[in-house]
Amino acid sequence: MASNPRFFHLVLVPSFWGLVNSAWNLCSVGKRQSPVNIETSHMIFDPFLTPIKLNTGGRKVGGTMYNTGRHVSLRLEKEHLVNISGGPMTYSHRLEEIRLHFGSEDGQGSEHLLNGQAFSGEAQLIHYNHELYTNYTEAAKSPNGLVIVSIFMKIAETSNSFLNRMLNRDTITRITYKNDAYLLAGLNIEEIYPETNSFITYDGSMTIPPCYETATWILMNKPVYITRMQMHSLRLLSQNQPPQIFLSMSDNVRPVQPLNHRCMRTNINFSVQGKDCPNNRAQKLQYRDLPSTFSADFDGSRIAYDQLVVSQPT
Ligand SMILES: *[C@@H]1O[C@H](CO)[C@@H](O)[C@H](O)[C@H]1NC(C)=O
Ligand SMILES: *[C@@H]1O[C@H](CO)[C@@H](O)[C@H](O)[C@H]1NC(C)=O
Ligand SMILES: *[C@@H]1O[C@H](CO)[C@@H](O)[C@H](O)[C@H]1NC(C)=O
Repeated sequence: MASNPRFFHLVLVPSFWGLVNSAWNLCSVGKRQSPVNIETSHMIFDPFLTPIKLNTGGRKVGGTMYNTGRHVSLRLEKEHLVNISGGPMTYSHRLEEIRLHFGSEDGQGSEHLLNGQAFSGEAQLIHYNHELYTNYTEAAKSPNGLVIVSIFMKIAETSNSFLNRMLNRDTITRITYKNDAYLLAGLNIEEIYPETNSFITYDGSMTIPPCYETATWILMNKPVYITRMQMHSLRLLSQNQPPQIFLSMSDNVRPVQPLNHRCMRTNINFSVQGKDCPNNRAQKLQYRDLPSTFSADFDGSRIAYDQLVVSQPT
């Protein structure tokens, strides 16, 4: 059956995931699915959310970059232990894999949306609960199993230094076809994080089958940047192996799923001074591009310093 190309096509279409395989049932009947559209007007400020703590042990790590046919994936070597804790987490979680989603055009390609808007890409750092479970596979199907940190990607004149290691021409062209792999060493995980302590968190699922509802999502409140050239290189990756026709991997996103009254919590304190805000809803929160203080580029254009900010009452 799997050799039937029509069946194969169905497997790749997210709306059919729950129908083609009964083990993927949650993909169609689950009510806590990901990704979602983040409506900032539905966010709730949670003063008990602490900052996220990244523990790399001060060490750089190595990993293998793969073209899985659906994602650019970076899997850490087993002996490299990078943990995160804090934020919404009650357990320490270990980094297993970084996955990149991206679009065939700018302004699409992220799985999560912010007030209905997509970004050009989304990096997902997938962690598993290593206090309760022995490995990713076991954790993925178990309660409190996964924590996925999501970082939006935007196009700019300069690149995030971590993503630059993955996406420079020498590296990315080694994984053009499905199942290609390339080893990277000396990676500093800290560098992939944007400079912000603020985030939005909600309970959801894996965005690929079997769509287990075991993931706590943490969306960082600032994107990272990649260059237009790097985005172009991503779009030149193929879902297929060489004898088959080239099929760009871009738009490797699952459509947004219903929120079903789930709570979106944030550590952004948006309560406006002097204003009574009984239910702590973010009426005035907007996504803004602020001029950057740290970078003016060769052509005079400036990198946007984007984040959700509290707009002052007018
Ligand atoms: C991550 O947690 C494990 C188990 O608690 C610990 O042994 C390890 O040192 C931690 N990783 C780092 C980088 O500190
Ligand atoms: C993961 O852990 C479970 C339970 O300890 C074990 O049965 C399984 O073989 C492990 N899987 C992998 C891929 O290591
Ligand atoms: C949130 O901001 C308001 C207004 O600036 C301040 O009064 C309040 O103490 C802050 N709350 C927390 C938990 O930081």
